[in-house]
Amino acid sequence: MDKDRKMIMFGLLLAAFVSPVFAGEWKASVVKSLDALVSSCVVIPCSFTHPEGNLPTSRLRGIWHISDQRDRCIYHYDDTLVLDNFKGRTKLLGHLGQSNCTLEIIEIKDHDSGPFCFRIELTKTETVAPEKFSFVEECVDLKMLPDPPKPKLTQLKSAVQGLPSVLTCTVPHTCPSRAPKLTWNKGIADGIIEVHREIHAGNWEMQSILTFIPEDKDDHSEVICTSTFNGGRTSSETLKLYVKRTENYSYVIIPTVAAIGTALIFAVFIIFIVKKYKSRIVELQSQEGSMWNRLSRLSRRVRTDDGK
Ligand SMILES: *[C@@H]1O[C@H](CO)[C@@H](O)[C@H](O)[C@H]1NC(C)=O
Repeated sequence: MDKDRKMIMFGLLLAAFVSPVFAGEWKASVVKSLDALVSSCVVIPCSFTHPEGNLPTSRLRGIWHISDQRDRCIYHYDDTLVLDNFKGRTKLLGHLGQSNCTLEIIEIKDHDSGPFCFRIELTKTETVAPEKFSFVEECVDLKMLPDPPKPKLTQLKSAVQGLPSVLTCTVPHTCPSRAPKLTWNKGIADGIIEVHREIHAGNWEMQSILTFIPEDKDDHSEVICTSTFNGGRTSSETLKLYVKRTENYSYVIIPTVAAIGTALIFAVFIIFIVKKYKSRIVELQSQEGSMWNRLSRLSRRVRTDDGK
């Protein structure tokens, strides 16, 4: 009995969930909140589903308006209906025919916070007045960033003289259509790879990977990565580079070789001198001896003379 009631309840719940799917509904999916850098741009991801199957772009009309005020449009397929302070600053990047209602806003002003909501109109060819559909309003809140975020600079491992070293510079942004440019200081740019990826809905990351071979002179130098955002704002990050010297014994080997060489030359020279003059020394010694003999003979003679 109880079990039956449960089954019926479950069936009703299931029906409640499933029925909208069967009935077919217009639904939009817009990112709820997004950072936007003042003076730069933002791209708001947006997509929608509808029960009509594939519809040509020509029959679809997209509108973005300020929340709760349908007549205050920040984007409208009819340019003349766009609010003055948004004229020329908004563009539908997505193709409505591909169910894509992605919006780009450029030259962001600090009062562009929204919320902004997407609405679509479907025109039926056989009727003059377009049949208008509105979604349960799907809106985005823009959080204004007065200053650009700083890039993050990292060194994958400590730099060693003469070996390839890798530095990465990463900056978050929300404008993939006009992404920030990353640049490095000084001429160490041997190889740069750029990676641009979406981290999560509407939030992107620009990364620059620098590979270079550090030299002795790079030790204690500063590496600066600068991010230039659309609109001209910049931010940068500095990293002090420490270059480990490779084990190099030349400062020991060269003086040692020089010392040993000098000693050898000196020894050869000494031997040569000794050999050359040995004979003369002997000769001198013998001469000396004869002189000594003569002298002693002389003295003996003198003494004998005295004794006479
Ligand atoms: C919608 O259009 C934008 C801009 O062209 C594009 O970057 C994005 O990938 C599209 N989204 C989908 C889901 O196709």
